[in-house]
Amino acid sequence: MPDPRVVIVGATGAVGRVALQVLEERRFPLASLRLCATPRSFGKKLAFRGQDLVVEEANAALFAECDLAFISASTAASRELGRLAADQGCVVIDDSSAYRMEPDVPLVVPEINGDDVGWHKGILSIPNCSTTPLVMALWPLHRVNPIKRVTVATYQSVSGTGAAAMAELDAQARDVLAGKQPAAEAYPHQIAFNVLPQVDAFLDSGYTVEEQKIVDETRKIMHAPEIAISATCVRVPVAVSHSEAVHVELERPMGPDEARALLSGFGGVVVVDDPATSSYPMPIDATGKDDVFVGRIRADASNEGGLVMWVVSDNLRKGAATNAIQIAEEIVKRGAWLRQPV
Ligand SMILES: NC(=O)c1ccc[n+]([C@@H]2O[C@H](COP(=O)([O-])OP(=O)(O)OC[C@H]3O[C@@H](n4cnc5c(N)ncnc54)[C@H](OP(=O)(O)O)[C@@H]3O)[C@@H](O)[C@H]2O)c1
Repeated sequence: MPDPRVVIVGATGAVGRVALQVLEERRFPLASLRLCATPRSFGKKLAFRGQDLVVEEANAALFAECDLAFISASTAASRELGRLAADQGCVVIDDSSAYRMEPDVPLVVPEINGDDVGWHKGILSIPNCSTTPLVMALWPLHRVNPIKRVTVATYQSVSGTGAAAMAELDAQARDVLAGKQPAAEAYPHQIAFNVLPQVDAFLDSGYTVEEQKIVDETRKIMHAPEIAISATCVRVPVAVSHSEAVHVELERPMGPDEARALLSGFGGVVVVDDPATSSYPMPIDATGKDDVFVGRIRADASNEGGLVMWVVSDNLRKGAATNAIQIAEEIVKRGAWLRQPV
């Protein structure tokens, strides 16, 4: 079977650049790689496997020459380009929220529901970067003892908003330290030396769009529409890696030792949990790694038999690029990228 011809749309962005690194690291089998972005980046060169690849326009003709498309641009761009690419016979792995909840689009975290790639109709989605670490920490418990209720508070890094927000945190921090008034564009308020209890727009329910995504996506990935979930999403002045405080209630009581053993035995999860040495997951340690790190595992003092844990993961890797490439690996393994007649 030939290797697929691949395109990354959004190759110059925060996720796109990491996707290039991850494709190299994982020696992803490909016959060719094309890179696309907006007109302001056309002609830019990005290095891949010792070669300079030139950024070009994403259009129907280019998609017709590719088999797999990673679209990591924006929800608007995904809406415009996702179906266009699929109509040209490309299998699309989309990073945005454009298609995640559509019934004919598998929403996949391969360690959990890798088999869902089997029923794709041309477009597959990765979850939001705060959903992925949550389900990675919930699934090893849920599959032996169904989870009834989850309460999660996130501490999300600015790279979750993209390259412009990372630059803004940097600029604001310099301005504040220099005694200047920082300009706020990426968020409604200054993010440097601050925390914002708002990620995305507010809904009539009082929750935000990001908080609702966690609920809907967790249920879809885990095939568990009955789980009760309440999320509070908070933006923090951290460059990369999202953290989450997670409270879990299961059908039957579960102690911290059992949870630690189940999480340690699950591929893609690493337990870092030694209060005696102040060992717990932190963004600075998780950044650049593909695993999801879990610590502070303890009995919930407010809910007998319940658990509390602290989860940290690199949002640009497992939260985005790595998960998308793992999905592609599943597709290639099954030959499910092979061009369908259009
Ligand atoms: N950041 C995360 O942690 C994360 C996690 C999961 C999912 N996602 C999703 O991944 C996508 C990319 O996020 P990001 O953080 O990498 O954003 P970003 O840093 O702002 O990068 C956006 C990229 O998309 C390109 N782009 C924008 N509109 C385009 C269009 N119409 N046609 C072609 N290329 C276009 C940009 O090109 P230029 O450089 O030329 O502007 C840039 O390469 C978003 O949908 C986001 O929701 C992000």
